[in-house]
Amino acid sequence: MSLIGVFDSGVGGLSVLAALRAELPHERFVYFADTAYAPYGERGDDYVIERSRKVAEQLIQEHGIKALVVACNTATTAAIHLLRAEHPSLPIVGLEPALKPAVATSRTGHISVMATRGTLSSAKYAALRDSFSGSATVRAVPCDGLVKAIEGFDTAGIEMLCARYMAEAGPFGHATGEVDTVVLGCTHYPLVKSQLQRHAPPALRFIDTGAPVAQQTRRVLASLGRLADGGEGGLQLQGSGDLAVLEAAAAHWLQRPRQTDAAMPAPIPT
Ligand code: DGL
Repeated sequence: MSLIGVFDSGVGGLSVLAALRAELPHERFVYFADTAYAPYGERGDDYVIERSRKVAEQLIQEHGIKALVVACNTATTAAIHLLRAEHPSLPIVGLEPALKPAVATSRTGHISVMATRGTLSSAKYAALRDSFSGSATVRAVPCDGLVKAIEGFDTAGIEMLCARYMAEAGPFGHATGEVDTVVLGCTHYPLVKSQLQRHAPPALRFIDTGAPVAQQTRRVLASLGRLADGGEGGLQLQGSGDLAVLEAAAAHWLQRPRQTDAAMPAPIPT
């Protein structure tokens, strides 16, 4: 039974992987963190396209993956159309900032979208935002530096940047003109949700895309008859950076026990 490939520029996609594993407990995953080339979000499209192509190619060559989840808003925006064109028989699931559920549930009609500069400056995002122009006011908050701080376990940097960007995302509340919903449009940001929440009233809603992407992956696999039919799920970690650091990040973010042999190539039953 082949694996589902999942990739991101670094550890951010682990927030999507957690949702995938909850939704698809019998599946085996290989997660690729492109840490040596992170962050993607403050570089141009050409860079992100090249990296996305290389990572997808590696997952296909090494694992013959049966599906690919692009667990990165920036890579989805820049490269998913090319990946789909180049690998027509591989189902590829991507993600975009969750504006639709945010607009559907916001009471004030004022929403802030926190994402990378790359995502927010793309034509794809502009088209998404404009499709809601009659129904909500959407503020873009590019969070420069936050991915780098998360990748580096830089606690002080994370604190400082969360405070800064939440100040830009507000004012929060339920009165006219106040923001009641924040879209986490980068897969790294759910990992620091508790730090973001410190700068917001308890009623502020945060929306991310982990669960809907996992459900979409299930639908796609089911429609192709590629769902695992029972058995133990598994997870293999891989990346362009230090595998021990990725193991530590996965242990931290997924509450996954550390492996004694970080370089172990075989899928690890979970
Ligand atoms: N986690 C990625 C995203 O969802 C990108 C982070 C980055 O490398 O800048 O956009």
